[in-house]
Amino acid sequence: MLFKLTDEQLMIQNMVREFSRKVVAATAAERDKTKEFPADNFKQMGELGLMGMMIPEEYGGEAADTISYVLALSEIAYSCASTSVVMSVQNSIVCESFNKFGTEEQKKEFLVPLASGEIIGAFGLTEPDAGSDPVSQETTAIKDGDDYVINGTKRFITSGLHSKVCLVTAKTDESQKHKGISCFIIPKGTPGLEVGHMEDKMGLRASDTTDLILENCRVPAANMLGKEGDGFKIAMSGLDSGRIGIAAQSYGVAMAAFDAAVKYIKKRKQFGMAISKHQAIRFQVADMATQIEAAKQLIFSAASLKDRGENYTREASIAKLFASEMVNDITARAIQMHGGYGFTKDYPVERFYRDARVFTIYEGTSEIQRIVISNQILRDKRKP
Ligand code: CAA
Repeated sequence: MLFKLTDEQLMIQNMVREFSRKVVAATAAERDKTKEFPADNFKQMGELGLMGMMIPEEYGGEAADTISYVLALSEIAYSCASTSVVMSVQNSIVCESFNKFGTEEQKKEFLVPLASGEIIGAFGLTEPDAGSDPVSQETTAIKDGDDYVINGTKRFITSGLHSKVCLVTAKTDESQKHKGISCFIIPKGTPGLEVGHMEDKMGLRASDTTDLILENCRVPAANMLGKEGDGFKIAMSGLDSGRIGIAAQSYGVAMAAFDAAVKYIKKRKQFGMAISKHQAIRFQVADMATQIEAAKQLIFSAASLKDRGENYTREASIAKLFASEMVNDITARAIQMHGGYGFTKDYPVERFYRDARVFTIYEGTSEIQRIVISNQILRDKRKP
């Protein structure tokens, strides 16, 4: 194996695996039906230190490395992808943005409760007409005395409903394009911030995805994260970390589908023998294991670059691209191996298939990852 895990990383993995398979798994199928937000999972995950894992202890985190984080996140995704997406957004684009760009006051006020899991956070970048191209966003923040007044609509916001604080990007200077976008901290309850339409999704059904509507929402200038014009950079660097998380989620769901398929083919008999004895099925098992292992190594590679403090934009996108495409293939194959039963709700593989579908879409589509990867190679002349 390319990466040898340390005793501490193995301990974290085992601790989260035990918690996830006992507690998180118990309600995952039911929540998929009812769409009930797993608030009780997050309470316990906060106590276990899983909501701000890479944040320094003085700000409520665990000061864990990224390898430990991806191990933990994939263990949670193994049982419940809805729970894992909230954990992913919270740890990366929310907590890490505060940690990297926040002032001491902002960290004390917002990062401490976020990283300790007391509250959930959200990040609002996407808009109805600005998804892959966030520079074309229309939300504006106009300076008015010591405040900014924000107007616009954010779309597809993970934890839009259940978050207590939102990071929201808005244009502060239209003429500056990406350098004219800034990022604001908006606590829930601020007049002018409302939760809008809630999506009825194909998968990740227990995680809420909503619009955030900003109508003359007034926030003090002290609520700007970073400097004026830093908003795009904050979003991009948060997404670098977020993309490792989506890759880890993909790995976790793929492992769940793979384990379910292996269990099924050993039991299911056709033509007088377990279908696992048929070469057509055995070769699928080998191909699936190979794809999953390749994704794992790419995830570890991106995570360890991040831990060494090196630029990991390209590797995060490579891991996200490969792992998210991989899990779509693995979950489809797992259904195929279950035959007709795979198409029913009596087996978990149809849930895995629905949950995995968005992994090639959110936090940058596969097409966007290819832009990022090729830009990194061709613009920065980094060798593949
Ligand atoms: N880190 C820091 N800064 C970065 C950066 C990074 N990873 N990537 C780019 N930048 C900076 C560049 O340095 C550059 O700054 P300067 O002009 O000062 O040099 C600036 O940003 C522009 O960079 P590019 O020229 O590379 O940008 P581009 O326009 O060519 O490409 C893009 C940008 C890659 C297409 C980008 O727009 C992108 O990633 N789009 C997809 C957005 C996305 O992933 N949205 C998902 C939203 S979140 C979500 O899914 C919901 C959820 O809650 C789960």
